[in-house]
Amino acid sequence: MNGGPTEWEWVPEASAIAREAGAVLREFFSRGVETEYKGDADLVTVADRTAEKMIRERLAAAFPTHGIYGEEGTRDRLDGEFRWYVDPLDGTTNFAHGFPQFAVSLGLERRPFGLAPGEDGKLVAAVVYDPMRDELYVAERGRGALLNGKPIHVTQTPELCESLLATGFPSHKRHQNPNIHFYHEFCLRSHGVRRAGSAALDLAYVAAGRLDGFWEFNLNPWDTAAGVLLVEEAGGRVTDFSGNHFRLDSREVLSSNGLIHAELMGFFAYMFAGRNLSPIPTPKEFAAHRAARAAKNG
Ligand code: IPD
Ligand code: CA
Ligand code: CA
Repeated sequence: MNGGPTEWEWVPEASAIAREAGAVLREFFSRGVETEYKGDADLVTVADRTAEKMIRERLAAAFPTHGIYGEEGTRDRLDGEFRWYVDPLDGTTNFAHGFPQFAVSLGLERRPFGLAPGEDGKLVAAVVYDPMRDELYVAERGRGALLNGKPIHVTQTPELCESLLATGFPSHKRHQNPNIHFYHEFCLRSHGVRRAGSAALDLAYVAAGRLDGFWEFNLNPWDTAAGVLLVEEAGGRVTDFSGNHFRLDSREVLSSNGLIHAELMGFFAYMFAGRNLSPIPTPKEFAAHRAARAAKNG
C-alpha cells in the first residue's frame, strides 16, 4: 500500500462526510423515527432523507465538479468524469426496527470521457461507515483497504464447507425473487449464511475477513459501489454469478475471498440448470389457491 490515508485523494474528505452523516443517523436512531413505505416492504424514514441531503451538500462543496447519484433521488451532474454513488442509510429496515446494523455508503466511479451512458467506468474510492460500532472502512484503487486505519484482507478459507457467508433479500417484488432457494442450498453447504440487512456492511465484512463470501440479487449501484471496491482492494473477488466482470448495473453480485469463488459459481450453475427455482406465491395468489382448493373440496 502506498502511503497513509492522509495522502489519499478522495477518502479523507469522504470519510469526514460519512462520519457526519453517521452522526445524523445515530441521533435519529436514538430518538426513534416514523416509517413510510416506498413499496410493499420498502421502507424509508426522515433519517434517510436528512442524511442524503447533508451528504449531497457536503460532497458538492468538497468536489464541485463531481456527479452524485443517491438512493433518495439525488441526480446531480451525471455527465462528468466522477460520480459518487450514495446510500445515506443502507439497512433502513433494521434502522426502523431499532436493530443496530446499518451504514452510510459512498462509492466513487471514474468515468473517462467518451464512455457510453450504459458503460461502467472504474471504481476508485470507497467509504462505508457503521455509526453504531464507529467502524470506518475505506479504500482507494491501488492503495488497499483499511478499517479504522488498519489494513484489512479477505480470509484464507479454502473451501465452501468451512465458510461463513451472507446474503440479502430485496424488498421490491420479493415474491418473484428465487434467492430463498440459494439461501437454503448454501446454508447446507457452509458453516452458515447470515442475513444481517445491510449489503454495504456485508461487502465490508468480506473485505475485513469477517465473512468468506456474500451474494445478492437485484442490488443497486448505491448498495454495491463502495463495498465492491473494498473487497477488491482487500484481495477478494467480485463477479456476477457466472464469473463475469461485475458491473454496477448488474442484477447479480457474487463476492468472496477468491479461494471459494469457483465453488460458489459452480453451485449457482447447478442451481440454475436443474432445480425448481419457482418464485414463492404472493399472499393474493396463496389466498386464491386456498379458495380454489376449498371450493373443490366442497
Ligand atoms: C437494502 C439492504 C439489504 C438488502 C436490500 C437493500 P436499503 O438497502 O442493503 O441488506 O438485502 O436488498 O435494498 O434499502 O436498506 O438501503
Ligand atoms: Ca441500500
Ligand atoms: Ca438506503
